[in-house]
Amino acid sequence: MVVVAILAAGRGTRMKSNLPKVLHSLGGRSLIERVIDSVKPLSPTRQMVIVGYQAVEVKAAMQSVPDLEFVEQSVQLGTGHAIQQLLPHLQGYTGDLLVLYGDVPLLRTETLKNLLQTHTQHQNAATILTAHLDNPKGYGRVFCNSENIVQQIIEDRDCTPDQKENNRINAGIYCFRWQDLAKVLPHLQANNSQKEYYLTDAVSALKPVMAVDLEDYQEILGINDRLQLATAYEILQKRVKEKWMTAGVTLINPDSITIDDTVELQPDVIIEPQTHLRGNTVIQTGSRIGPGSLIENSQIGENVTVLYSVVTDSIVQPGTRIGPYAHLRGHAEVGAFCRVGNFVELKNTKLGDCTNVAHLSYLGDTTTGKKVNIGAGTITANYDGVKKHRTIIGDSTGTGSNSVLVAPLKLGSDVYVAAGSTVTEDVPDDCLVIARTRQVVKPGWVSNKRDAQSEQLKNES
Ligand code: UD1
Ligand code: CA
Repeated sequence: MVVVAILAAGRGTRMKSNLPKVLHSLGGRSLIERVIDSVKPLSPTRQMVIVGYQAVEVKAAMQSVPDLEFVEQSVQLGTGHAIQQLLPHLQGYTGDLLVLYGDVPLLRTETLKNLLQTHTQHQNAATILTAHLDNPKGYGRVFCNSENIVQQIIEDRDCTPDQKENNRINAGIYCFRWQDLAKVLPHLQANNSQKEYYLTDAVSALKPVMAVDLEDYQEILGINDRLQLATAYEILQKRVKEKWMTAGVTLINPDSITIDDTVELQPDVIIEPQTHLRGNTVIQTGSRIGPGSLIENSQIGENVTVLYSVVTDSIVQPGTRIGPYAHLRGHAEVGAFCRVGNFVELKNTKLGDCTNVAHLSYLGDTTTGKKVNIGAGTITANYDGVKKHRTIIGDSTGTGSNSVLVAPLKLGSDVYVAAGSTVTEDVPDDCLVIARTRQVVKPGWVSNKRDAQSEQLKNES
């Protein structure tokens, strides 16, 4: 049984931001959301976020996350003081407490599982995560015996020069047997260089405390400024890309590609340079995305190609070709074996299978049947200045170049729309519709005009 506490009351001055630090985004998820994600597989019985600085903003942003409890630490008197705020909320609780920081977003669930496992197995009063750093400056130093039993944790600023030589650092991630911790918490003293109540002093007062070394020290990177935010993003991208390449995805020039860790890719997907995959995007096997594309919250079927295009909140069925320079948005749904080509925008539009919209078109709020051919420059006029209206197009219908379809409008199946038409009324199946004035040809018109003009000039002179 484990309760999770996430410390998020600190000020985050070095971000130089109006946004609370833990709400800054790292690859589409806020720092604190990432911490919450990492504990989800542990099925904690309670998740308590300790808030203080900009508590209102943090709480508001986290409203939609289920089962979070917020505990206020109205003045920030140190990490020990922060955990003291839990005392009234956890009276009589007999399980463990996992302590995490809201600004340490790269911890892996596996690492936490490992920490909990060691904790339980050895029946420790506390188990802490440690790492050996080349540059341990700023971190608390952990002093252990040869069995990894912690003797003492001393903050960097409270260390003697000799103690500073120890490069085993406190990651600040702990698992406590709550009942033991609850006994020592009320007795913490703030007699240190920062006049703070240190959680590390509580650790030093418990027995036995065991240290578990981290394999990948990058996991404990804390975010204090924008440089660290960028570093964390790079680490995250490296992880995500390695995962997909190992799973059979080809990334061409991976450094120029970004992939959110919420994206799903299938084997034999090829991602070309300068392509960005975001949100809840799924790309199925055999598809080739890019170069130069952005796919966000979209489902891409098998064997689709997307070239220099933007696809957001949309679905593309297998075998379809998108681009170059297409824009799908607002829940566009493109059927199988379609072609959506050069400079085409689809908004909230559903294309039936084997339909082509190859050049220079805007289709908004439109539904087409199968095997429809939308001619170059066809536009649906879907907006009357107040409301949007739908255009419905039947199977095997074709529009000529530069047609305007004024919605609400229904074209039947097997309809031909003559080029340059402005269609304002419904057309039944099996028709040709010409909605423009007929061409008029006036033979001799130019020379007649010229003669008339020269006659006039002669009369004037
Ligand atoms: C702490 C540890 C140090 C460890 C380091 C790892 C202590 C005394 N020291 O130091 O041994 O090496 O983390 O990063 O614990 N916070 C609150 N309320 C407070 C104070 C802090 O919620 O009153 C939160 C902060 O928002 C932050 C976290 O706790 O997320 C850590 O606080 P910080 O003051 O940065 O601790 P460090 O000095 O880094
Ligand atoms: Ca810190």
